[in-house]
Amino acid sequence: MTESKTYRIVVLPGDGIGPEIVDAALDVLETVQEAAGGFSLACEFHRAGAACYRDTGAAITPEALEAFRTADATLKGPVGLPEVRKPDGTEAGLLGGILRVGFDLYANVRPIRLYPHAATPLAGYEPDGIDYVIVRENTEGLYLSRGLGLVTPHAATDTLLLTAHGCERIARFAFETAVKRQRGAPEDGRQRVTLVDKSNVLRSFAFFRRIFLKVAEEFPGVAAECLYVDAAAAALVARPRHFQVIVTENLFGDILSDLGGATIGGLGMCPSANIGERRAYFEPIHGSAPDIAGRGLANPVSQIMSAAMMLDHLGEAKAAAMLEAALWSVYAQGRIPFKTGGAVEGGAAVVAKALKQALREQ
Ligand code: IPM
Ligand code: MN
Repeated sequence: MTESKTYRIVVLPGDGIGPEIVDAALDVLETVQEAAGGFSLACEFHRAGAACYRDTGAAITPEALEAFRTADATLKGPVGLPEVRKPDGTEAGLLGGILRVGFDLYANVRPIRLYPHAATPLAGYEPDGIDYVIVRENTEGLYLSRGLGLVTPHAATDTLLLTAHGCERIARFAFETAVKRQRGAPEDGRQRVTLVDKSNVLRSFAFFRRIFLKVAEEFPGVAAECLYVDAAAAALVARPRHFQVIVTENLFGDILSDLGGATIGGLGMCPSANIGERRAYFEPIHGSAPDIAGRGLANPVSQIMSAAMMLDHLGEAKAAAMLEAALWSVYAQGRIPFKTGGAVEGGAAVVAKALKQALREQ
């Protein structure tokens, strides 16, 4: 018998719809393990998020942090509750500063892929007609100032910081992503990395662009281009077929990934990976939707796709591909009862059930 690997997974269910969509993802992962074979996941549950902040005064417990530090990967649900705020008015319980910056998880990988029958507001796009990845720099840029900006009664400032090291490693990560992805840009099949910046106005972005173009020389097989962020926002709506990999600063990546999500049927379709040299965690790009929590409406697709990204990162490419294929077929067969606005009739458990059946049929 071949040896089966066991991965230690930390699960942070989060707030709002977090626990129900994480449950659905874990349920599906169990079936993936059976179907793919060769590995198992040992899950360890911990508290983090806005409710955790409200109850304990910290967005994540010390035990959760320690587990995160030593786990093979972490699956995280959305966090945040609108009424839980810090004294300065910003949302409490968010983990970006603690996990992304704290553990130097510098690459935030956000695939934007159009699935069959997904409710795109754009006309004329076939499945896979939109298929690119946003590589969002995750540890610096404007968000480095999270909680650190200078505020007086009359003025407030947040600083955008880009380092040579940060620009170089995220540019290289983007080119490596382009090379690894089998599918090129839908428009022409080419491997292409697009830097999105605002180098016509800000010197920090001119600095980023120079470094990007230098790194591009190491990847002669990949087309490299640069686009200003305002033009990029238009292009992601007008000609999304053009893109394969987009690399950009933290705030721009935050905004453009929601824009991209809207073009493929909403943020419920959008998983992400936060990747560093040694650790990684996986989460939907959307918030915790407390208004629909517990009402049997939550769409767990982003969470399930995040689990697929986690499997891929762990080296279980076959299991990840099986899960993606199951999701694709469930969409193709129209087996998820979507309501307008992206909610699912019956909620996360209904999607999990359809997916488990599709996995067993593979
Ligand atoms: C995201 C989210 C977070 C971010 C928020 C919740 C802090 O919007 O992951 O895109 O801005 O990074
Ligand atoms: Mn966001």
